[in-house]
Amino acid sequence: MILITGGAGYIGSHCTLDLIRAGYECVVLDNLSYGHEEALQTTNFSKVDLANIDEIRKVFKKYPIKAVIHFAAFAYVGESVENPQKYYYNNVVNTLNLLNMMLENNVKKIVFSSTCATYGNPEYIPINEKHPQNPINPYGTTKLIIEKILQDYDKAYGLKYIALRYFNASGADPKANIGESHSPETHLIPLVLQTALGKRDCIKVFGDDYDTPDGTCVRDYIHVNDLASAHRLALEKLFNGSGSDFFNLGIGKGYSVKEIIEKSEKIIGKLINQQISERREGDPPTLVADNKKAREGLDWNPEFTEIEDIIKTAWNWELNRRY
Ligand SMILES: NC(=O)c1ccc[n+]([C@@H]2O[C@H](COP(=O)([O-])OP(=O)(O)OC[C@H]3O[C@@H](n4cnc5c(N)ncnc54)[C@H](O)[C@@H]3O)[C@@H](O)[C@H]2O)c1
Repeated sequence: MILITGGAGYIGSHCTLDLIRAGYECVVLDNLSYGHEEALQTTNFSKVDLANIDEIRKVFKKYPIKAVIHFAAFAYVGESVENPQKYYYNNVVNTLNLLNMMLENNVKKIVFSSTCATYGNPEYIPINEKHPQNPINPYGTTKLIIEKILQDYDKAYGLKYIALRYFNASGADPKANIGESHSPETHLIPLVLQTALGKRDCIKVFGDDYDTPDGTCVRDYIHVNDLASAHRLALEKLFNGSGSDFFNLGIGKGYSVKEIIEKSEKIIGKLINQQISERREGDPPTLVADNKKAREGLDWNPEFTEIEDIIKTAWNWELNRRY
């Protein structure tokens, strides 16, 4: 059985679905602080906060857990700058609780949600795994600290990990009725599509004077199902005896904010109200992944390589969203 922390969240629910489709048994641990009961893909669910060691222990006693995929975290960059305490406690201290319960129960395999935010301002593009990690906000720092803790736990206790550094997760499963639902929503594609639906007045474009082809920020959008399949492959790599490792997960192509809006307008068939605003602090002009290591090392072959296809799945979710 695979323990999925944060399995009621956006990426965790898609990953649970992917694992179940592949024949794995899963148990989800989530405190539902940001997750949704409707997103759960298994009835094996424990509403537990990772701050509560006794409750985590009970989950390990109840289920024959063989490995963990750890999504549970807070992930708002701006909030992490204003309230770092909240982030260091939940993302670092509570992860330590989980790791210690794993060791107590002799579970020594974990796939960890890291982020491209651990790299900080890019020194070159595309970003490969050798790029220096100098996060520029507490959120990125919390994820880097966990990567370091995992390295040390491997050396000292033989805990094997694969850290996956995601770029921008996006889209929704084309068949299941689950999708992206953060509150507040800060991700570009849902914001654009919700503006098209009239749920928001306009989409704010933060800066149009960056050193990019059209002046707006360029990001690498990876479909959530391709993220999910990479987690499954990482897990299988650990089951096959692999040592610890880390991989970027992105598609390797960048799209600007303006391009995302234009492509969405074409798909939907209407103009989307937009407003140019000030730059946001800490937004690098371009973030694009070099994904060669993941393609080769995980034998990962992403299905959604065209941004239009990703946006279409997100649009379908926005039209049918349940939560
Ligand atoms: N969405 C992205 O583009 C992106 C990019 C890079 C990394 N990540 C990382 O991926 C992971 C999942 O992101 P998401 O977009 O699915 O976020 P999400 O908020 O939808 O999911 C996170 C889940 O973790 C749960 N959770 C948080 N703290 C918990 C705790 N103490 N105990 C139990 N459950 C807890 C929440 O209730 C939620 O269901 C996070 O670790 C995030 O940092 C996301």
